[in-house]
Amino acid sequence: MLKMAVLVSGGGTNLQAIIDGIHAGTIHNSQISLVISNNGSAYALTRAKQADIETRVISPKSYGDREQFHQALLAVLQEAGIDLVVLAGFLVNIPPCLVEAYPGRILNIHPSLIPSFCGRGYYGLHVHEAVLARGVKVTGATVHFVDNGCDTGPILLQKAVAVRSDDTAESLQRRVMEEAEWQILPAAIDAVATDRVKIIEGRVWITEEV
Ligand code: GRF
Repeated sequence: MLKMAVLVSGGGTNLQAIIDGIHAGTIHNSQISLVISNNGSAYALTRAKQADIETRVISPKSYGDREQFHQALLAVLQEAGIDLVVLAGFLVNIPPCLVEAYPGRILNIHPSLIPSFCGRGYYGLHVHEAVLARGVKVTGATVHFVDNGCDTGPILLQKAVAVRSDDTAESLQRRVMEEAEWQILPAAIDAVATDRVKIIEGRVWITEEV
């Protein structure tokens, strides 16, 4: 059984998609052992409690410096025996000590087709505003493994979403979530949990066989 920690900062719709996927049996062999937020008022925490999942608030503000915060985060993950860390709208940079402790074991969902509209400053509505400003016709979402860069780790799964002429950043954000994020994040977790992630020709792929 894969023990997951889901790290959140906000509304938690991706967390909800994972909870629902486990309940529906589309995510196999997995449990969410812990939901961690840097923000005590994140609605994601309410979603976790409603699903009887243990929650922890670990905020940088509670620690003397960033290093202490990072060590606290790492200690909580290790004490809980976490196998896979899922960043589902976690607005905190992941420190090297975490990447080293969980090599190839941290997943992030990003609301664009990486390498477009990613990196520093591309989070939340900013991503969709930039998509509209550039006038691209296709956007989407990406699940990738986390390395020491910002949105630079190996790509596991992507799904495209068409941009409409009447889209606002808000409508596009919603559609990218509905049509892409809530599908590919649970699918990626299931692939990790069922050992279907393979490296072929130096690239990461999900294979079909279980
Ligand atoms: C999502 O758009 C996700 O791609 C990004 O942050 C947002 C989180 O939304 N990393 P939610 O908290 O899961 O609703």
